[in-house]
Amino acid sequence: MAPRRPTTISAVDLFCGVGGLSYGLQEAGLDVVAGVDLDGSCDYPFRANIRAPFHKKDVCDLKVDELVAMWPKGSVRVLGGCAPCQPFSSYRRGVDTSREAQWPLVDEMRRLVEGAKPEVVTMENVPRIISTSIFKSFVDCLKELGYFVDFKSCHCPTYGIPQHRRRLVLVASLLGEIRVPKGTVGPEGYTTVEQSIRKLAPIGHGQVDPTDRLHKSRTLTEVNQKRIRASKPGGTWEEWDEDLRAPCHRKSSGSTFRNVYARMVWDEPSPTITTLSYNYGAGRFGHPEQDRAISLREAAILQSFPPGYEFVAPEDPVQFAPLGRLIGNAVPPKLAEAVGEAIVEHVEAVKGRVRRVPRRTTVPPSSTGTPHPASGR
Ligand SMILES: C[S@@+](CC[C@H](N)C(=O)[O-])C[C@H]1O[C@@H](n2cnc3c(N)ncnc32)[C@H](O)[C@@H]1O
Repeated sequence: MAPRRPTTISAVDLFCGVGGLSYGLQEAGLDVVAGVDLDGSCDYPFRANIRAPFHKKDVCDLKVDELVAMWPKGSVRVLGGCAPCQPFSSYRRGVDTSREAQWPLVDEMRRLVEGAKPEVVTMENVPRIISTSIFKSFVDCLKELGYFVDFKSCHCPTYGIPQHRRRLVLVASLLGEIRVPKGTVGPEGYTTVEQSIRKLAPIGHGQVDPTDRLHKSRTLTEVNQKRIRASKPGGTWEEWDEDLRAPCHRKSSGSTFRNVYARMVWDEPSPTITTLSYNYGAGRFGHPEQDRAISLREAAILQSFPPGYEFVAPEDPVQFAPLGRLIGNAVPPKLAEAVGEAIVEHVEAVKGRVRRVPRRTTVPPSSTGTPHPASGR
């Protein structure tokens, strides 16, 4: 009898962004065959790094047949999705987010799972989603469809990511029991800010590294230059002279914002990289040593993107707000890689040998008219 051919696992990434989830799944050997996102600025980074087709599309308009056609026949099909997490973010506490437009997007993922029944589903979001009714009905629906479901809140440093960030990871399978991978790194082994970004070229505020356009730090106002010079790694604005304090610091409620206008420390993971991590005033985003906020490249590395990850087409400007948003919203690739490894092990246990697919070398054509990432135009 001819030996059974190894199984290929192919993944479609809904709400793919710049490809953090996809990149990690690829590192584990999954074949990422498509990404879907309505933000056209994700077209270039997705194709340049993931080298899979990008579909600029509203997931609400994605038909089940269109999705099914994205997976190659005969492979184990994975549907990954990271619906925007703003409605569930802990930064929105006290705000009624139930009527926001993003709420139905988890339901859109559910619609596509019901219609396409991929063998494996994975979802990433903020941990607070666990207590929402929309998440509970998603899990109930998966179970009714016959999926084994597991989810948990994952602390990023335990997966080798140099950042204190918690993410909810869900995995579900029609093939049998699957578990969210446990982080294996203890506090002694956490990857630090120093190990991750000290090697980058020193730059000043408002400067850019001539060898890497993304290693660019935002210009500081005169008062913020004074403030960062007065800031110690790990310290707070409470240590500054009174005249440097902002009006919000002088109010009694200011004590709740101790971690703004602050510097990171070298020998720990960074704080959560938000969409505003390039902004010294928006968190503990000051460089531990240089008198500036971290650069966009440093933010991406602290999210565990590789140092050469391409975020912007050569002909396009590097802008803080849109790139900060794309970087801060991404799934840390190393967390996605751990999820990908768990999926590979799970499929191997059920179906035997899995073919880990090497990274593609060619870039697919754009569906949005953006130039080819390799063209340098
Ligand atoms: C949290 S981010 C996803 C990050 C991505 N998984 C990564 O790892 O880089 C959410 C993404 O959903 C996209 N999005 C929001 N609403 C959408 C919709 N209705 N259809 C498609 N994409 C949508 C946003 O443009 C954003 O890129």
